[in-house]
Amino acid sequence: MSPDGSVNIGPMSSAWALGRTIVLGWEATSQTLANLARDGQCVINYPHADQWAKVEAIATLTGRNPPAAHKADRFTYTNDKWTPGGFTPLPSAGVRPPRIAECAIHCEAEVRGIHEPSGPDRDGFRIVETYVRTVHARRDLVDPAIGHIDTDAWSPSLYVFRDYFGTGPRLGRTRRR
Ligand SMILES: Cc1cc2nc3c(=O)[nH]c(=O)nc-3n(C[C@H](O)[C@H](O)[C@H](O)COP(=O)(O)O)c2cc1C
Repeated sequence: MSPDGSVNIGPMSSAWALGRTIVLGWEATSQTLANLARDGQCVINYPHADQWAKVEAIATLTGRNPPAAHKADRFTYTNDKWTPGGFTPLPSAGVRPPRIAECAIHCEAEVRGIHEPSGPDRDGFRIVETYVRTVHARRDLVDPAIGHIDTDAWSPSLYVFRDYFGTGPRLGRTRRR
């Protein structure tokens, strides 16, 4: 949530998950980081591979007004990334920001800590530790036999060296499945 009450969308790829913790890498000057620090809640929305163009449609927008100096020549301020992305808000179960209806998987999360990197990148970004309260998954993406995501049905959008990809065919299964 931005201070004006609008709901900002921050396209991002630098994330990893362990248990219910999802760690997000956010550029220090992003509006998303300011919002996470102030509001303490978010929804992590996972687009399907074929939705990459919707993400790209908001890639040069920022919710920060005016845009950070190093982005001023490439980015435009807006407090509505929903319309250009073709996204629709869907109320969340337990956090203030809504989910993106078009995404099939959502994690409602609260911020547990914002950490400074210790290296020379210290000023560039922050490590945002979130704790997932609620997971929503579209029913057809869940394998009822194991109660987990069916990886034959779900191909998340992957951002690889600034190009968009989906997943390929499964190469193997872990014994822990
Ligand atoms: C596919 C994609 C992935 C991105 N991943 C990240 C990321 O992991 N961390 C980050 O700080 N910015 C990332 N960005 C850039 C931010 O989305 C960009 O800085 C944007 O302006 C942030 O919006 P905000 O200022 O409204 O928060 C990514 C952009 C795209 C299009």
